[in-house]
Amino acid sequence: MIEEVIGDFVQLKKSGSSYKGLSPFTNEKTPSFYVSPAKGIFKCFSSGKGGNAVTFLMEHEKLSYPEALRWLADKYNIEIEEEKPNEEEMQERSERESLLAVSSYAAKFFEEYMWNHEEGQAIGLSYFQERGFRDDIIKLFKLGFCPDGWTGFSDEAQKAGYELKWMKAAGLVKESKDKHFDFFKGRVMFPIRDISGRVIAFGGRTLKTDKKIAKYFNSPESALYIKSKVLYGIYEAKNSIVKKDRCYLVEGYTDVISMHQSGVDNVVASSGTSLTDDQVRLIKRYTQNITILYDGDPAGIRASFRGINLILAQGLNVKVVLFPDGDDPDSYAKKVSSEILQNYIEEEAKDFLEFKTSMLAEDAAGDPIKRAEMIREVVDSIAHIPDGIKRAVYIQECSRLLAIEEQVLLNETNKILRQENKKQAKRNEFRNEQRNDIPPPPPPPPLEEGPHQERKRKLETSALSQEKDLIRLLLTFGRHPIKVELHRLEDDEKETLDSSVAEYLLFELQDEQLELHDEVMRKIVVEYARFLQKGEFPPEKYFQHHESASIHTLCADLMAFPYELSGNWSERHQIYPETEDMNLAKATKDCVFRLKLRHVLVMIEELQIEIKSCAEEEKLFELIKEKQHLDAVKRDLSRYFGSAIV
Ligand code: CTP
Ligand code: MN
Repeated sequence: MIEEVIGDFVQLKKSGSSYKGLSPFTNEKTPSFYVSPAKGIFKCFSSGKGGNAVTFLMEHEKLSYPEALRWLADKYNIEIEEEKPNEEEMQERSERESLLAVSSYAAKFFEEYMWNHEEGQAIGLSYFQERGFRDDIIKLFKLGFCPDGWTGFSDEAQKAGYELKWMKAAGLVKESKDKHFDFFKGRVMFPIRDISGRVIAFGGRTLKTDKKIAKYFNSPESALYIKSKVLYGIYEAKNSIVKKDRCYLVEGYTDVISMHQSGVDNVVASSGTSLTDDQVRLIKRYTQNITILYDGDPAGIRASFRGINLILAQGLNVKVVLFPDGDDPDSYAKKVSSEILQNYIEEEAKDFLEFKTSMLAEDAAGDPIKRAEMIREVVDSIAHIPDGIKRAVYIQECSRLLAIEEQVLLNETNKILRQENKKQAKRNEFRNEQRNDIPPPPPPPPLEEGPHQERKRKLETSALSQEKDLIRLLLTFGRHPIKVELHRLEDDEKETLDSSVAEYLLFELQDEQLELHDEVMRKIVVEYARFLQKGEFPPEKYFQHHESASIHTLCADLMAFPYELSGNWSERHQIYPETEDMNLAKATKDCVFRLKLRHVLVMIEELQIEIKSCAEEEKLFELIKEKQHLDAVKRDLSRYFGSAIV
């Protein structure tokens, strides 16, 4: 089966008992990529990557673990058991599914209508062909045409069994005075696809030149389509982005398509919105290097300045290419050969620093005040870079380019960073007040000292090293997928779940109401949980570069000794993901159980204190019952560790 899965992406040839092909991860000329159906694994000798079908999908398609499983389930028509969704989730899911179904139908309809119907051919297809789009490219992007009658599309869709309700929700149909009509009527259609290639929205371009008519209509946001998280062309570009380790960012649909036609296929557009953090994060799944390709007009320059800071803030590298004389990538690609285009974007690409200084230097020539403003503007970008070393290198370079002492630039950068920190702290404070989800540490109990108090205090001090372990595990392996067996000690029920180290750890903390004692670590956990709630992980090194000094200092301390698993884990990592999972799952479970055990022991000591000073008989019975229960949990946990490891 693994050869079938990988065969979808790599051309494999049988070679003895295994298969061989060109590595999809590098640009090799002689095949060094092997698949062994008997062992169910692949091994790529030019990149060192290896694993099973799931790890392949995760690596190659940049899917998360559950996404990879779902991909396999789709391919083999297997129903996968998922955690039972609650009613709200069911509703949302069925809403998304209905929207997906109608969008997919619409895309096929528009495409078919353009290629096979007279109106479509005469108006839509001929428009694209006159613009110089080749047929294979028109097909690759599934371009289409929406009939110019009022209900040409919606009538057909209804006949095919799709409900008007969903067409409206997807923005394909509008209603006016109790009559419905096709929203995109008479427009050429650009389907917008998600990373797995599913159509989730449309852009429709008018063919009229009337300036009063909006050039593009775009689908409204829905449960399926969240504009700020989508990039046009990502599905067609992602493999090439990984291979070339660079992503070109353009403004419009037609820019993406023309660049593809000219052989530059690692290109996406933020189409219709200015670039967002989420879009940069999406690119970051595939590469650390972005080149912005915008018009050379003032609006394009402004947009590129904004984009630069956004990209830098995510820790990515950014270059800029401007096109000459009001050309955009589309028009320039039409004017010149693909060779000249490719040379142009390679040779004209300027690192953001060089780009910004050269842009601003023109303005500021001979004007000291403007020059000071410009320096601040450039330093502002540098201050966005989260990595301290990278920042220092850029300050050096900037000092050379602008002939200004490094110390001056450094001071200015630090000033901006301090202001940012302050602002961030204010924002955090505000947020905490609003949500109140970082409770203040509990006040120390004003009790007289006895043996129980002393033991309790010792336990709490020893907690620190366990909490450190937890944070290290979270930061080192948080995103790693693990299978966890949820084993409720109380009722002996077992169930297996696909999770990640982070989700499991944080779920357990929350579920068991395990409070971390250390305030900074608690903040890390709360912030990590916020990412998980949004369905994402914190960006790499997020906490190491955190704006809060207490957080990044703690991380630096902790990560000086990153979490290590026993066994030669890193070696096995390549080939035996099962073993890796087992080790990691065990380490994660141990960590949680150790915290739990410590927590239980503390509670037992607290109960002892209470029992001693309890005067009411009824209350006393309750306390004793509770203690018996805790004793049982303690026994089970101790048994798990073989002996009482605290
Ligand atoms: N856009 C939009 N609505 C508009 C104009 C533009 O959503 N009324 C978005 C579209 O995603 C478009 C992008 O902004 O692709 C860039 O706009 P523009 O350069 O005007 O469009 P092009 O795609 O270049 O279209 P064309 O070359 O056909 O003019
Ligand atoms: Mn254009």
